[in-house]
Amino acid sequence: MSCDFDYDKLWGTVLGLPHNREEYSIHGRDHWLRVERNACVLATRTGANITVVRLFALFHDSRRINDWTDTGHGERGAELARELRGTLFEVSDEEFDLLHYACTWHTEGHHHDDPTIGTCWDADRLDIGRAGVSPDEAFMSTDFGAEIARHGTILPWLDLAKPHILDPANHHVIWRSLANPAANKTRHSSPDRAESK
Ligand SMILES: [Fe+2]
Ligand SMILES: [Fe+2]
Repeated sequence: MSCDFDYDKLWGTVLGLPHNREEYSIHGRDHWLRVERNACVLATRTGANITVVRLFALFHDSRRINDWTDTGHGERGAELARELRGTLFEVSDEEFDLLHYACTWHTEGHHHDDPTIGTCWDADRLDIGRAGVSPDEAFMSTDFGAEIARHGTILPWLDLAKPHILDPANHHVIWRSLANPAANKTRHSSPDRAESK
């Protein structure tokens, strides 16, 4: 299914919801943006559904109420996606089931053979460096995720994300003020509107 929706409007809406996040929460906006970037890199080789992995990046930690274990935050994020589906974005039932599952179970440390779910979880776990911990290939579901984890950083592969993200190296730092949505248009490329699977 093509993804003919406005990513920036969707991100702005989710970020604008009431929340308990600190400005620099390790599970907040910058983390979501790095997960999105990582997912776009991974998807080039894993065969993941690019729309689903990008939506996962936005929703998976969106309903956290603290930066600790926060049991159930993945399912709350999945349910937020359900609320916004049909108004701010649309995906097929099959895509939504993948998104809901990936969000709901992303915290349990499981692996998954489905390339889209595995890519979601690897993209999240490859951002563990923000907590001062190196990524561990033992926690990766995809071969590409394991390769990146063994290398220790995703930086050499960032350009792979360019079909979807204009400046992968700075994707997490160029978010503009929500008060100026037009400025946010610099964040995302949009060719995946034609090539999503
Ligand atoms: Fe999480
Ligand atoms: Fe996360």
